[in-house]
Amino acid sequence: MSLRFIPVASPLKQYQTHRPAIDEAISRVLLSGRYILGDEVAGFERELARYLGARHCVTVANGTEALGLALQACGIRAGDEVVTVSHTAVATVAAIELIGAVPVFVDIDPVSRCMDHALIKRALSPRTRAILPVHIYGQPAAMEEICAVAARHDLRVVEDCAQACGAMIADRKAGTFGHAAAFSFYPTKNLGAIGDGGAVATDDPAVSERVRVLREYGWKDRYISSEQGMNSRLDEIQAAILRVKLPFLDAENARRRAIAEQFSSAIKGNSLVPPRPMSGTVHVMHLYVVESPERDALQAFLNERGIGTALHYPRAVHQQGAYVGRIRGSEDLPMTERLYETLISLPLYPELRDGEVKRICTALADWCSSR
Ligand SMILES: Cc1ncc(COP(=O)(O)O)c(C=O)c1O
Repeated sequence: MSLRFIPVASPLKQYQTHRPAIDEAISRVLLSGRYILGDEVAGFERELARYLGARHCVTVANGTEALGLALQACGIRAGDEVVTVSHTAVATVAAIELIGAVPVFVDIDPVSRCMDHALIKRALSPRTRAILPVHIYGQPAAMEEICAVAARHDLRVVEDCAQACGAMIADRKAGTFGHAAAFSFYPTKNLGAIGDGGAVATDDPAVSERVRVLREYGWKDRYISSEQGMNSRLDEIQAAILRVKLPFLDAENARRRAIAEQFSSAIKGNSLVPPRPMSGTVHVMHLYVVESPERDALQAFLNERGIGTALHYPRAVHQQGAYVGRIRGSEDLPMTERLYETLISLPLYPELRDGEVKRICTALADWCSSR
């Protein structure tokens, strides 16, 4: 009997888990006759703000625009420099450039794989206006240290929480440390829609109001643009789906962590390097990324066992054609570049069945004992 292939991600399984409630939510919206910026969006914004412990939350069309609008609402303008990392989804950097700002890269800490806060100072210039750390793979970046540097140099901090909804530092959620934070509800995210979606969280009423205005053509009053804006609205159907899923997020994140612990035990003591959650933080294991000096062979081995893998990402941003040679800091990213030679993501989502987790653990243990 051939074993069923385990995909590296499965938004379909998420839908199947919550299917009756999602179907009911979609039908409720369809019959309401209100499809844009209605009660579902308002309800989800309230519920997400409460969940995060943020004063305000404004939904937008996707995570990339959430980042761009958050930066803009924090006063970042064309030509301003924003310090960030090259080890991220390209969207982080695309968002900075979307508003005409200028990304500058600093390297990552090899253990957390997030921005190395000790390197920020030397990346600053008279044009630096903001720091944009990324809570990569679900691991919160060192926000206290990053915010301290920002405070010393009068910089804004916008957190990229696309991969870290529900993650914590001490008893505070990621997304409540900076001046604003951006979330993505792309279907494979820990809190995923069935389509695109995003949100900005902030404690600052002026920032939230500005995002609200910018996400709809710069309207303060309907049909009257007080400034140049855009269309970046979350639709009612996606908001209703997200309202179904949000109450399950903590339990699903805990299930991700429990699975991750099993994977990490299976490879203990071997040359594979697992995620190493930083002490005092709650990692939400959006992706389970190991480092292997024999990455390609490991990928082929797992594929033969019916286990899907992926590379997040195949190249760092500064190594991609659109960005090569034109972003300051690109020439000094040794930790980022080293990681890209070895990283590989294993399947990790709350719907993985115990039998599938066991199959992955056995394959990992077999790989380790064969080396
Ligand atoms: C780290 C990071 N930032 C930003 C984004 C952008 O989100 P979206 O795909 O919703 O635009 C993503 C998701 O792709 C991401 O992983």
